[in-house]
Amino acid sequence: MKILGIETSCDDTSVSIVDISSKRVKVLFEAVSSQENIHKKYGGIVPEVAARKHIENLGPIIETALKKHSAKSIDRIAVTAGPGLITSLLIGVETAKTLAYAWNKPIVGVHHIEGHMLSILVNNRQIDWPALALVVSGGHTELVLVKRPGTYKIIGETQDDAAGEAFDKVAKLLGLGYPGGPMIEQRAKKRKVDSFELPRPMINSNNFDFSFSGLKTAVLYLHRDRKIPKSKINDLCASFQQAAIDVLVAKTVKATKKYNTKSILLVGGVSANQQLRKALGQQAKKDLGCPLYSPAIKHSTDNATMIAIAGFFNKPTHWSKIKADPNFCI
Ligand code: KG4
Ligand code: ZN
Repeated sequence: MKILGIETSCDDTSVSIVDISSKRVKVLFEAVSSQENIHKKYGGIVPEVAARKHIENLGPIIETALKKHSAKSIDRIAVTAGPGLITSLLIGVETAKTLAYAWNKPIVGVHHIEGHMLSILVNNRQIDWPALALVVSGGHTELVLVKRPGTYKIIGETQDDAAGEAFDKVAKLLGLGYPGGPMIEQRAKKRKVDSFELPRPMINSNNFDFSFSGLKTAVLYLHRDRKIPKSKINDLCASFQQAAIDVLVAKTVKATKKYNTKSILLVGGVSANQQLRKALGQQAKKDLGCPLYSPAIKHSTDNATMIAIAGFFNKPTHWSKIKADPNFCI
């Protein structure tokens, strides 16, 4: 089945065409237009600007996608319906609905986080289910029990900031720019991870929830009160990154043990972090004998390929039933 995927939930405009069956996933076309350079100067995403850029970018990318793949050959349209920024979501959703109407095609409104979890299926990877997914993005930090694609149970989530949000806010307060995750990872490379003592919030709590705002505030106070010199900022980045990783790894390992899952999925924008991949991979192997799967870096951050894949595992509907929903629950 050929699925056209559209993703505009935040600041990336993305379109993909995927040929998918229950046995294989073949990416026929994929493109992402990043707005990173535009939002950089504001130190974060400006929703109104993001929406305007989606309007400018989406049409031309769809046109390019359709140069090699006719509208007639598309069997289904999948679009991110939520969660996300409402102004951004609306552009993708209304465009997808218009195409579904004009082409008379079925359409699926995809949950963005389901897309991230199924990003793992690109390149036909055969996963042993059930799996435990650690979803770490700019808007979400969740542990999800995935019985199989389409069946999910959230077993823990952040009580305040998402992991990616903490990376972004710490980078901003240290004056490192946006997006913070890649900046902090870059600066933390080959630096001492224990130069600064930082908390590991909720690491020993009796549940699978997270909290990152205290860690962010600890960095803020350190930076403000101890007047950390420029030469020590990279060490501070390494200490912060390690604290965040320690909590994410500890909770994921604990949940994998409790639910006895056969695999671990590490997905979402923060899964691009090599140190996190390494630390979780090592623990998974050592403690659990369980494989860790994470997508290619380009499929860790927002992309329409994962949305097209999720579109395969959901029942399509008539275009008139699809609505952008910033609070979409899985
Ligand atoms: O999944 P994503 O592209 O968008 C959302 O759904 O939010 O995730 C974006 C987040 C941002 O907070 C960004 O700083 C973070 O992922 N991120 C990283 C890295 N690359 C992106 N965080 C840590 N290390 C990275 N290498
Ligand atoms: Zn995302």
